[in-house]
Amino acid sequence: MVTKPAWLENPWKQNPWFESVAIAQQRAKKRLPEPLYAALVAGSERGTTMDGNQSAFAQIGFAPHVAGHQAQRSMSRTVLGHEVSLPVLISPTGVQAVHPDGEVAVARAAASRGTIMGLSNFASKSVEEVCAVHDTTFFQMYWTGDRDVMIQRMQRAHNAGAKALIATLDWSFSMGRDWGSPEIPEKIDLKAQIRLAPKVITKPAWLWAFGRAGHIPDLTAPNLAPPNGGAAPTFFGAYYEWMTTPPPSWDDVTWMVTQWKSISGGKPFMLKGICRIDDALRAVDCGVDAISVSNHGGNNLDGTPATIRVLKPIADRVGDQVEVVLDGGIRRGSDVVKALALGARAVMIGRAYLWGLAANGETGVGNVLDILRSGIDSALLGMGLSSIDELSEDQFVIPDGFHLPLGDPSRVGMTETLVG
Ligand SMILES: Cc1cc2nc3c(=O)[nH]c(=O)nc-3n(C[C@H](O)[C@H](O)[C@H](O)COP(=O)(O)O)c2cc1C
Repeated sequence: MVTKPAWLENPWKQNPWFESVAIAQQRAKKRLPEPLYAALVAGSERGTTMDGNQSAFAQIGFAPHVAGHQAQRSMSRTVLGHEVSLPVLISPTGVQAVHPDGEVAVARAAASRGTIMGLSNFASKSVEEVCAVHDTTFFQMYWTGDRDVMIQRMQRAHNAGAKALIATLDWSFSMGRDWGSPEIPEKIDLKAQIRLAPKVITKPAWLWAFGRAGHIPDLTAPNLAPPNGGAAPTFFGAYYEWMTTPPPSWDDVTWMVTQWKSISGGKPFMLKGICRIDDALRAVDCGVDAISVSNHGGNNLDGTPATIRVLKPIADRVGDQVEVVLDGGIRRGSDVVKALALGARAVMIGRAYLWGLAANGETGVGNVLDILRSGIDSALLGMGLSSIDELSEDQFVIPDGFHLPLGDPSRVGMTETLVG
């Protein structure tokens, strides 16, 4: 008997597996209502930093071997004391209404692939729900609210089982994008539903996912709810609290580290958003355990250089005192090995997993992590290495002037062209 090929059984069924993060992004664009897709693209002003984060990786080249490759290759290591099966962590993002399972789906995928989940304080799911599905969750906080409120939020994250605190401080409330910002309603009430209907009605797959889940997208921030069952603020309410909180000093950073250590019994603290050597040195003085070299994925001050260009000078100075991770522009396994070779212990991903989540929920996030894993493995194979521990800068082709030592206290009056 002749068996029919699978595609003849159901020629309209799309294979949900995708082969690259770029394809996941295409699928996300097709599936999501336009304002939601635009909210994930994010970026600020001209988008120079957002684009530069990705294009800077393309400036670094490989010098592969033709034979003598290694049959066994390893990419596991520890990050802040936690074993990860690949050096790629989930960076915290305020996911909003991309998928009904939101951060719970992301956390499940991260757990199944053996890596760490970063959960934003602007997340759409609570820290309790997320820690229940993934016991290695790091909770992220902005400097928002008064000190009592911050202590209460740290206590809640610790009680829920968060294994580390990430403080993200690189935000300057810059408004406006040259390509226009998406309209995000305060809440999805009837008025908003009617207004957004034309944009949503054309996206049946996205609508159907929420229909099946039995709820409409919720634009609140449950991790910022007051204690004792108070209602979660809306995204805009939470943003207002943040905008009206006086910005933190370095003493405040020390205060935050001290509070978290005392509440949590010494769990690790990461400061996210460093792109200068002098700030990295100050962070070390504040007692942090890790820093993330990050420019918020190009969503903060546009014109900030690509993170991969500022990584090595920072890692060279503080890498023996704190763990250094990098985020910004990671879209493939080869980007990961480049960052590791320049001093990162691991990388964190933002948009890459958001595209996977939007395209195919938990499976899509797992798909993205698998793409990165196989890309790291290919790079190790081609370079003749048996472990990520063997990666070093001299194995790559790196243009002169690539590394930018921003804020180097020993180089007063630096005038290089910084953006690239
Ligand atoms: C839509 C979106 C929302 C984000 N929300 C947060 C957040 O709530 N907290 C945070 O620390 N970083 C946030 N980030 C920054 C990411 O954690 C990460 O630094 C950035 O996405 C890395 O760049 P990449 O997207 O090119 O991987 C957000 C980024 C995006 C794109």
